[in-house]
Amino acid sequence: MKEEKNDSFDVLRLKADDLGDMTGTLGKNFGFDYHYPLVSRSPEIKEILTLIKKVAKSNASILIQGETGTGKELIAGLIQFISSRADKPFVKVNCAALPENLLESELFGHEKGAFTGAYQTRIGKFELANNGTLFLDEIGDMHLSTQAKILRVLQDQEFYRLGGNRTISVDVRIIAATNKDLWREIELGNFRVDLFYRLNVVNINIPPLRKRKEDIPLIAEFFRRKFSKELRKNTKGFADETIKLFINHRWPGNIRELKNIVERAVLVAGEGKYVEPDDIVMSGKDYFAAGGKDRRKTEFETPVTNTLDLMEVEKATIVKALEITKWVQKDAAKLLNISPRALNYKIKYHQITHPNWKKNI
Ligand SMILES: Nc1ncnc2c1ncn2[C@@H]1O[C@H](COP(=O)(O)OP(=O)(O)OP(=O)(O)O)[C@@H](O)[C@H]1O
Ligand SMILES: [Mg+2]
Repeated sequence: MKEEKNDSFDVLRLKADDLGDMTGTLGKNFGFDYHYPLVSRSPEIKEILTLIKKVAKSNASILIQGETGTGKELIAGLIQFISSRADKPFVKVNCAALPENLLESELFGHEKGAFTGAYQTRIGKFELANNGTLFLDEIGDMHLSTQAKILRVLQDQEFYRLGGNRTISVDVRIIAATNKDLWREIELGNFRVDLFYRLNVVNINIPPLRKRKEDIPLIAEFFRRKFSKELRKNTKGFADETIKLFINHRWPGNIRELKNIVERAVLVAGEGKYVEPDDIVMSGKDYFAAGGKDRRKTEFETPVTNTLDLMEVEKATIVKALEITKWVQKDAAKLLNISPRALNYKIKYHQITHPNWKKNI
């Protein structure tokens, strides 16, 4: 894989053999001997992989941070995969999914009769993960009292089941992940700073997709091939316009969003054809924001006015932009290349109204 860094999307276009055999690119390029479904050509990810190689075999706790869909869980799995605990359990807990009391029983287990409804003794995730890895996902959403308990386990490597009086010792490696800014959570009093330091022995910060644009065509291609195979749909590749749209999109849902969009695109694309912008479904706002064209026309027609009165021309242009964007002011503002505030001001000035706006305003 070449490491060309260039903003022009032509350079970002894939070379035929960039993806190797598509079972994953963690091959020779990254000095890995494994196949793992992680694709990247960005120097930032390469740096992360180098770090992982160094620390995977140790027992150091690892904190993975990054926006939603950036691959935190994928990276956590990779760490386990190449660690000396690879053949031991990899146990995942979603700390955001459960209310505080259930999360504690989930983590530490409980003895029979520990609380109403505890009909049987239950083994918690810490015990299940013994000798292996415990992946604490969405750690930023964990309640403060549970944080205190986790901290104690990390310090002592032992704990009690809920309602139990026997200490249980475990050897567990912790990988935690969050899409929250933990420093902010610490400032807000929602996260314990001592737990942060305990978890943050190794820190991995995965940059969002929009900050590693060189990965966009590569990962899109990875998923195109994957879904073409799975859905038995032959597609030739992406049309240039589609790649441009991808490059300019902000990807708030990061790789998960790209994956979903490509899956659907492969499904609807013409058999044996290139994947065209028409096959891409982004929300209207995102589509325009990424520079997509209104598909009902090949180009926007500029409004025809029988006057050169600047104010009249301005009003007609605004109305046209609003029509194109289905009267969504934010989108129209983007099209007009002015701020939503400025547009709102002009709409009031020109006394433009639309029945939909009652709910928009
Ligand atoms: N570099 C990559 N190459 C290929 N696939 C990737 C890559 N990064 C992430 N993915 C895929 O994108 C999807 C989202 O990744 P993952 O679940 O690891 O994200 P996350 O950061 O844990 O998201 P969330 O914060 O929402 O839990 C998964 O299907 C994952 O396999
Ligand atoms: Mg996740």
